[in-house]
Amino acid sequence: MSSVHDHNRRAWDERARKQQVFTRPASNDEIDHAEGLLAANEWIEGSVRGKRLLCLAAGGGRQAIRYAAAGAIVTVVDISPEMLALDRQVAAEKGLAITTVAASMDDLSMLDANAFDVVMQPVSTCYVPDVQPVFDQVARVTCPGGVYISQHKQPGSLQADVKPSARGYELIEPYYRTRPLPEVVGSRHREAGTVEFLHRWEQLIGGMCRSGFVIEDLMEPRHYQRDAPTGSFADRSGYLPPYVLIKARRTSQNMDADMSKRVVFVG
Ligand SMILES: C[S@@+](CC[C@H](N)C(=O)[O-])C[C@H]1O[C@@H](n2cnc3c(N)ncnc32)[C@H](O)[C@@H]1O
Repeated sequence: MSSVHDHNRRAWDERARKQQVFTRPASNDEIDHAEGLLAANEWIEGSVRGKRLLCLAAGGGRQAIRYAAAGAIVTVVDISPEMLALDRQVAAEKGLAITTVAASMDDLSMLDANAFDVVMQPVSTCYVPDVQPVFDQVARVTCPGGVYISQHKQPGSLQADVKPSARGYELIEPYYRTRPLPEVVGSRHREAGTVEFLHRWEQLIGGMCRSGFVIEDLMEPRHYQRDAPTGSFADRSGYLPPYVLIKARRTSQNMDADMSKRVVFVG
């Protein structure tokens, strides 16, 4: 495991211990009404009942639990043992069966090929330096025709200052950066203590396509609120949507994962 992975594992363990943002389990009400809530998600056709579902980088007692409560056969993968402990704790309290796996999203070699009908991934690809291995791994474990629903931080949002100057939210980071982003404390757009990376559109959308997915839909979840105080999360989200939600489907062909054989356009 690289030093980045190790750092983020410790950072998320710490965030879970301190009960920070994204580490709070689902409420009783959310768990009890999970089937109805998830049925509203038209991207998962029909019910999740009986579907083999992978919650990727989704520990914390929130995601996997609700899918299990709705009848899915759930595996949750996360790099943080503390986040996975929350899933096991809530599952035990609710009498739900889930499988937890401590692993990094870019190495799912412990999971069988074609093992899942649906893969759900909340915002998390920002924690790995290279997103292509994640998509290659997800493609391998998703069955042909299976659905991959993932949310990512938008590159433009990661380029811009979290606080406005007199001229607005200025672009302060280059688009073509490969090194980690500078740490930001006190912003809902970033998770303090973690190491985060910007992934370009060609890496997100193009990367999924090169791994053997076709993109079926794309949404920008709306966090903007009219009349939000200047500098707040809701105000900034009106200029720079923070996230993108992508629905991709695994094609039936086996794509060639060898990067050297992928077509590169120059010019
Ligand atoms: C924003 S949280 C998403 C889960 C959150 N509990 C939720 O309700 O949506 C990001 C998750 O990614 C996990 N994570 C960070 N780096 C990872 C990696 N390389 N592989 C797998 N999981 C990772 C963290 O431990 C954390 O649980």
